[in-house]
Amino acid sequence: MTVLDARAERPVRLTLNGRERCASASPRRLLSDFLRHDLGATGTHVGCEHGVCGACTVQIDGVAQRACLTLAVQAEGRDVRTVEGLAGDDSLLGDLQAAFKRHHALQCGFCTPGILMSCADWLARIAGRGVPDQGQVREMLSGHLCRCTGYTPIVAAVMDVAQTRAAAEASHA
Ligand code: FES
Ligand code: FES
Repeated sequence: MTVLDARAERPVRLTLNGRERCASASPRRLLSDFLRHDLGATGTHVGCEHGVCGACTVQIDGVAQRACLTLAVQAEGRDVRTVEGLAGDDSLLGDLQAAFKRHHALQCGFCTPGILMSCADWLARIAGRGVPDQGQVREMLSGHLCRCTGYTPIVAAVMDVAQTRAAAEASHA
């Protein structure tokens, strides 16, 4: 009888920012560690490792999720997007990143990759529903801790992008 070692590493294949990637991972390897240490995607930050701070947030199949609460093996076959995937093909900042820069929405930047990934997901989901109010933006951000900014410039950056995108949608309607 073959005895399987539950701790044995196994290949995990996924799409990371549009590229097929594969590396070995033990069953208990966190996705956050897998991305950073095995795939070199160090833009994803790790803070609390308990699902509280939001720093490790990535998108899995387009949905913002905590990478520290996800096992690498759970990402098998999934489409994972990290902050490195927000820039365009020309490596220029995406509109959300550019707005954060314009509004000084980061200081130390530790929280920023996770916040960007949640904002990107949320802005995509509210597309076509008009401009959100600041309360909705603050509620969306409530799962993220930022020790530096006081959140006001982050909210301003998100509102800026939401207004710009809504105006563009209206002009194409
Ligand atoms: S490191 Fe994942 S939520 Fe804090
Ligand atoms: S910019 Fe420093 S924690 Fe948010």
